[in-house]
Amino acid sequence: MRVAVISAEAVPYSKTGGLGDVAGALPKALKQIGVDSVLVTPCYWQTKAEYLWSTAIDDLNVDWRGGVYPAKAFYSEANGSPTFLIDAPSYFHRDSIYGYREDHERFAFFNHAALTLLKRIGPAPDIVHLNDWHCGFSAVELASLRRWDAYWQQTRTVFSIHNMAYQGVFGADELWKFGFGGEQERNAFLSNGAASAMKAGLLVSDTLSTVSRRYAQEIQMPENGYGLDWLTRQRSDRLVGITNGVDYEVWDPRTDPDIGAHFDEQNLEGKRECKRLLLEEFSLPVRIERPIFANITRLTAQKGIDLMMQVAGEILATGAYIISLGSGEKRYEDFWQALRDHAPDQVGIFRGYSESLAHKIEAGADIFMMPSKFEPCGLNQMYSLRYGTVPIVRAVGGLDDTVQNFDSVTGTGNGFKFGPYSADRFLERIYEALFAYADPETWRTIQRNGMEQDNSWQNAARKYVELYGWTLGRW
Ligand code: ADP
Ligand code: GLC
Repeated sequence: MRVAVISAEAVPYSKTGGLGDVAGALPKALKQIGVDSVLVTPCYWQTKAEYLWSTAIDDLNVDWRGGVYPAKAFYSEANGSPTFLIDAPSYFHRDSIYGYREDHERFAFFNHAALTLLKRIGPAPDIVHLNDWHCGFSAVELASLRRWDAYWQQTRTVFSIHNMAYQGVFGADELWKFGFGGEQERNAFLSNGAASAMKAGLLVSDTLSTVSRRYAQEIQMPENGYGLDWLTRQRSDRLVGITNGVDYEVWDPRTDPDIGAHFDEQNLEGKRECKRLLLEEFSLPVRIERPIFANITRLTAQKGIDLMMQVAGEILATGAYIISLGSGEKRYEDFWQALRDHAPDQVGIFRGYSESLAHKIEAGADIFMMPSKFEPCGLNQMYSLRYGTVPIVRAVGGLDDTVQNFDSVTGTGNGFKFGPYSADRFLERIYEALFAYADPETWRTIQRNGMEQDNSWQNAARKYVELYGWTLGRW
């Protein structure tokens, strides 16, 4: 089976969030279980030159907006699988990866260039695996191509939803510019009078998936469907939830090169050392017995920062530390800064993005807070589990699928979770966690339960192979 994964971001070439982690790791995991997979992603200005191993195509002439765009494609296997990176400077050599008025045009171009490239490099893939709204354009183009281009006739599409909240909406009058002037194509995009790349992907792809089982249910309801729940309900017989995996080659406390001491579920001594180093890194006094609450995230409303703001004072009142890594909305950045100014001996913040610090925090912290409003999957709670950092999460999406409440009677469960989006419910779990933390043996049990959980990509990749088979009508 030949699979082409198309994604707007992929680690290590680019990353703004979990989509990058997933799109980098899945093709590698597919390859490891014997699937012939290739990844196609843009070459951004941010993509490090060391990852561009060679020039694969220097005349990838892409028919575009009535002319020809002279793009290039680089080749790499830096993520562990064959990758082609589309180089189109006017679209991708910019200060940031997203956030431009014409993002829809940038990714419409990328999609068309990706299909042009695939046709150039070999036999047609059996499956083109598309990710999020950025790839809705390919879904529509492939549906059309299949009708008249023999090359694509057997190819089927899988469309994965990583976040329903972002839909790539733009003015429908622009569709013709991107080659979607035909009535059928136009209708695929039309949503409430505008064009929606997410809607198009959901409507025309052969099968749909999303990144946890619970989120697959949630997006069929108005609260998380963002106006497209009618469509996910309509296509629910073609929609599956596959929980993301963790790349344990990158996130492993036994070997992690970013952390100062190594450890595993049998011996957690190294974690104590990581905690000491983490406190030092943030210039906090080293009181090793006090718990560290941590958070690493994009600072947006999705992540439940409002709840963290409401409970932060209570956490500090217990004498615990809070460490936060992230950047995003100003009101949230300002809050963390004010908290740090208020309690400089208990609060550590880093406003920005740092892979290496993310690893150090996962290793050194005791408790990870993820009270998300909604969370399609979430990766940090899974990284936390592997690093013996106990998660407190809201029971939504992938957080609900991967975190089980600790039960002191049976000794089962790997963390703490609460239902309603409420600071009081969150605080209850925080106190419960602190109570468990006070008893080292209990805490050890919770840590071990989490560290032993297997969220590897191999499991998830097998489920994708089943989905591909089903999409091809082989099951
Ligand atoms: P989302 O994709 O919604 O942001 P996920 O939990 O799926 O949420 O993935 C977020 C990824 O981005 C994780 O790998 C996390 O470690 C990383 N991340 C987020 N913010 C930062 C930051 N400021 N510095 C380093 N890594 C970050
Ligand atoms: C999105 C979601 C996150 C998920 C990630 C990867 O960014 O917000 O929950 O883990 O995609 O699928």
